[in-house]
Amino acid sequence: MRMYDIIAKKRDGGVLSREELAFAVNGYVAGSVPDYQMSALLMAVYLCGMTDEETAQLTDVMARSGDMVDLSAIEGIKVDKHSTGGVGDKTTLVIAPVVAACGVKIAKMSGRGLGHTGGTIDKMEAVPGTRTSLTREEFFRQVNEIGISVIGQSGQIAVADKKMYALRDVTATVGCIPLIASSIMSKKLAAGSDAILLDVTMGDGAFMKDLDSAIELARQMVAIGTAHGRKVAALITDMDKPLGHNIGNALEVAESMAVLQGKGPADLTEVCLQLASNMLLLAGKGDMAACRAMAERAIADGSAFETCCRMFAAQGGDTSVLRDPGLFRKAKYSYELTAPCAGYIRKNDVEKIGNASVLLGAGRIKKEDAIDFAAGITMHKKLGDHVEAGESICTFYADDETLFAPAEEMYRGGLVIGAEKPALPPLVYARVTAGGVEKFA
Ligand code: URA
Repeated sequence: MRMYDIIAKKRDGGVLSREELAFAVNGYVAGSVPDYQMSALLMAVYLCGMTDEETAQLTDVMARSGDMVDLSAIEGIKVDKHSTGGVGDKTTLVIAPVVAACGVKIAKMSGRGLGHTGGTIDKMEAVPGTRTSLTREEFFRQVNEIGISVIGQSGQIAVADKKMYALRDVTATVGCIPLIASSIMSKKLAAGSDAILLDVTMGDGAFMKDLDSAIELARQMVAIGTAHGRKVAALITDMDKPLGHNIGNALEVAESMAVLQGKGPADLTEVCLQLASNMLLLAGKGDMAACRAMAERAIADGSAFETCCRMFAAQGGDTSVLRDPGLFRKAKYSYELTAPCAGYIRKNDVEKIGNASVLLGAGRIKKEDAIDFAAGITMHKKLGDHVEAGESICTFYADDETLFAPAEEMYRGGLVIGAEKPALPPLVYARVTAGGVEKFA
């Protein structure tokens, strides 16, 4: 078999066999297939697409390129969750404890921020002392004892994806549904949970910009998981506005704790309740109404918040900041970004908001950059809100005052204020399962 022929076959619209996909992917991991040939194949896939069967086979080959985690030493059904990425998306910090408090095991591996989007592991590390890298024994023991652990993804999970994602990032081949589906699902299958809830974000801050593409990505990921014997469902959620008000690591932890204590923003709380209910449903805890009631109860009776504190404590975290977010270290400087005129916020580009928070130090510009956990943005006015001229739209936080000007330029570049109130997107557009698509909007 020759890589040249595999590239040519895909370039001409052919369907690759498992053997051909394995030759390309395993060769790339081993180093016998060079970057330029894998780049050519990825571009051919980008342009010609893949059948469902090809995507499923590619996913399986990628999943098996590293460790396949066996979670059978943890009793009971294990449910995982994955978001395709967003700004202010702190749902894992809420729903993982809610679901664990309802008696479903969470043995979860999460990622770090990528581009303008944040990552759960960076947020967890904003809590002083928190260890996000545990040995396998520690991880299993913690999940068996307290029902929950969230750790960083080991470098040995879906090794092919790590290498291929880095190549896609620099060859303009990220935005391709079969490649995104196989990238995400290879990691989820390797991570070993029995059931997986996918949060497919849609909007200007997400990879998927329209409902049809988001549904297609969800459909492909659900099909891949189902073919591998996992229970999978996906919610299509809005990313035309950040979730909640806070963007930045410590700020987002504080807001998540507010949701767990029943005093969080309505949009974030509602999305978390819908995601948590769907995870409980996948775990067989009852019908949707019963699962929703269970999730609401776990917040109302404080058990979800206490579960979250137990998880952080078990991983070495200082839970005093969870109980009193005022104890988080504060950024040295703050800056109010004010409205130039009165009117409604008609557009507030989410990618630009995310990039502004990165410029303030809340994310990484280069891979090796350190994160400033205190940096970020608190939004006082969001898409659809009315502002007066000179009123504060948001507060920036940073340790270096010179960061405010570029962050402001970025934020204002995506801001449109006008006389008419815009139509607001729904929080959740649709639910996709192996049985079909249920649209809510
Ligand atoms: N997230 C991933 O893990 N992979 C992609 O390809 C896109 C988003």
